[in-house]
Amino acid sequence: MAFVKLCNVEDLWEGEMESFEVNGREILVVWPSGGEIVAFQAVCPHQDIPLVEGKFDGKTIICRAHQWMFDCRTGAGVNPSDCRLAKYPIKIEGDDVLVETEGVQSLFAHT
Ligand code: FES
Repeated sequence: MAFVKLCNVEDLWEGEMESFEVNGREILVVWPSGGEIVAFQAVCPHQDIPLVEGKFDGKTIICRAHQWMFDCRTGAGVNPSDCRLAKYPIKIEGDDVLVETEGVQSLFAHT
């Protein structure tokens, strides 16, 4: 499989997150404040809630359901720290955000 188009760079602003579907799966696109666009699994590792329904302050993604928090650059769990978001390889070509979905599976954690 190769990189496929996920969205346009203009589809979100720096400091925002948005969810897009590609290859039959939802992917969360996050633009950290002062950073580069990254892409993660779209659902919370806790109980499968869409993370796009949560909050994002430019640094931390916060799930709306039980306030689990994730570092927006790495996907690492901030609270709790024993979980993480699966990260997708992406690249930017012109205005296109491309993603590679093969080999990436959503991660889930204890409850
Ligand atoms: S489902 Fe996200 S914190 Fe519980």
